Amino acid sequence: MAGGAYVDSGNAKQFDGKVTAFVLVTCFVAAMGGLLFGYDLGITGGVTSMEPFLIKFFPGVYKQMQDDVGHRSQYCKFDNELLTLFTSSLYLAALVASFFASTTTRMMGRKASMFLGGLFFLVGALLNGFAVNIEMLIIGRLLLGFGVGYCNQSVPVYLSEMAPAKIRGALNMGFQMMITIGILIANLINYGTSKLENGWRISLGVGAVPAVLLCFGALFLGDTPNSLIERGQKEEARKMLQKIRGIDNVEEELQELVLASESAKEVEHPWKNITTPKYRPQLTFCTLIPFFQQLTGINVVMFYAPVLFKTLGFGNDASLMSSVITGGVNVVATLVSILTVDKVGRKVLFLEGGVQMLICQIATGVMIAMKFGVSGEGSFSSGEANLILFFICAFVAAFAWSWGPLGWLVPSEICPLEVRSAGQAINVAVNMLFTFAIAQVFLVMLCHLKFGLFFFFAAFVLIMTIFIAMLLPETKNIPIEEMHTVWRSHWFWSKIVPHADDDRKPEAAQS
Ligand code: BGC
Repeated sequence: MAGGAYVDSGNAKQFDGKVTAFVLVTCFVAAMGGLLFGYDLGITGGVTSMEPFLIKFFPGVYKQMQDDVGHRSQYCKFDNELLTLFTSSLYLAALVASFFASTTTRMMGRKASMFLGGLFFLVGALLNGFAVNIEMLIIGRLLLGFGVGYCNQSVPVYLSEMAPAKIRGALNMGFQMMITIGILIANLINYGTSKLENGWRISLGVGAVPAVLLCFGALFLGDTPNSLIERGQKEEARKMLQKIRGIDNVEEELQELVLASESAKEVEHPWKNITTPKYRPQLTFCTLIPFFQQLTGINVVMFYAPVLFKTLGFGNDASLMSSVITGGVNVVATLVSILTVDKVGRKVLFLEGGVQMLICQIATGVMIAMKFGVSGEGSFSSGEANLILFFICAFVAAFAWSWGPLGWLVPSEICPLEVRSAGQAINVAVNMLFTFAIAQVFLVMLCHLKFGLFFFFAAFVLIMTIFIAMLLPETKNIPIEEMHTVWRSHWFWSKIVPHADDDRKPEAAQS
């Protein structure tokens, strides 16, 4: 799960308590999981464009690039299956791991999953940093993927459960913020190490630092009260609650947690529940939002920005520098979203972001078509290159205040407790699957679709923007437990969702 995607039981009550230093430190350490995910998202593109790295592990690609100077289309310079597998294997591993992680997180606690995630990250980063052959490289990459699967499953849950309700929303998006910071740090490190002999070892190995922090953190920090109760440790849960809220009397909140845990246990069939007609909207959005999020083409920029910029004729340095710029834009624009989402609402951000992305993709596609045409020969003047960079930055900004954070927030807030875990799992799995798919096919698509690739993503952005305009009700300021009302007043969903009076009861309880 690549974002702060868990919202607790939707309890509208406010409990006493302060935002304690303990809770902030705890959340900071846990958020290392987001940073690590972002770091892995961002580091690969730069590394795969470094010549010493290509010479050592992908001599075929390197030779092809050298031989093809002047012969082969710019579009196909980097098209190599092994190189692609190196990038995308991580997301496949994350997809597989997220299924195991949900059981670990539930049965052994959030802390256990975070520790395991940190450990996978640590070993993966070390194997990659010290890699002497392609096997070490790929195995390291798979371990990093397990790390992503475990951390993305457990960290957002941990953050949501530790946080007092009043800052839960901010923390939810804060996780996405950490992802973007991780990507930016990765871009900066790549920029620095690209000038060093074997700098790629530093780029890949540095991930071990936050991983160590996460492992130690997970060992020494406590588990969440919710998880302790779930595993029958009520006394420990009370002590933890006193510690994180900074007050002695936590009885009321403790009782709520016990009740929430009991009612969650009553739902025996969350998977069956979510497929029943009354959860059609949730099933639709939990599947299509992550699918569309990836079909914006954002990860083409995140993974392959340096390669893409090189393809467009930027020099080595300029390519990496450009990805630092897009990384910075990503962080700042995410902040814009955090500050505005509860004021202007989700739909405005989705729609504005969609239109802006569409314009940028069409502009980029047209510029590349005019310069490189179908043959793939040509290069940009520095003015034109800057204009393309501008459009790519505007595209990243649009994504970062719309589909980036909202792609995680909306699926989590529309699901009632009885189907939340299932909805969440679908969201994560679909996201990872399409992250993998895009990473896997992008270079082949660039080679075959050429500039048309930008129009391909633009077409999807158009479809998803219409989809949001027509089908997503505004969820701003609606308490989670009242969310069922938005479907009833929606022109389309009111025809689909049955008008049962008891439409908030879990299916299992009805039968
Ligand atoms: C997406 C990632 C993407 C990142 C970029 C996240 O919301 O899930 O796939 O790389 O945003 O900031």
